[in-house]
Amino acid sequence: MPGIPVNPTVLKELQRQLNQELSASHDYLSLAVWCANANLKGFARFFKQQAAEEREHADKFMDHLLSRGQLPEIGAVKAPRGEFNSIQEAAKHAQAMEQKNTVGVNSAYEAAVRENDLPAQVMLQWFISEQVEEEDWADEMVDRVQHAQSPGGLAQLDRHIERILREEDN
Ligand SMILES: [Fe+2]
Ligand SMILES: [Fe+2]
Repeated sequence: MPGIPVNPTVLKELQRQLNQELSASHDYLSLAVWCANANLKGFARFFKQQAAEEREHADKFMDHLLSRGQLPEIGAVKAPRGEFNSIQEAAKHAQAMEQKNTVGVNSAYEAAVRENDLPAQVMLQWFISEQVEEEDWADEMVDRVQHAQSPGGLAQLDRHIERILREEDN
């Protein structure tokens, strides 16, 4: 179906970022099962929710492409990292992933600006704000797990982590 034409460079960036969101979803699933296996049920629920949110992000890219008459290209998703030595390491992995995702969103936006693609710019502005929030909770998670070194402290953090990090949203 024809739609508002998309510059090839912008199209490539949108397809790439769509797949980066799917890959992030996969990564969060892996983090969720690792946490569940480590009896960190609060962290597990939080990461599983993140996995669902990343799928919704991918949906936004798919909807945008479809609205513009472009076929979304769903690529292969690389196996995510499954082993972590500690929750500290797992939290840092999530943080690094979000930082990479910000780079990806920014790169797509910069292409949309260069090519004067106004609809893509508007769509991507939502993602730019979203990444500020995502990096904010990831930084807080890393900080809090680093300060919860005792088993008791970690168990208590696990009980409250969802509420603590959700309060960062909205
Ligand atoms: Fe995302
Ligand atoms: Fe994210």
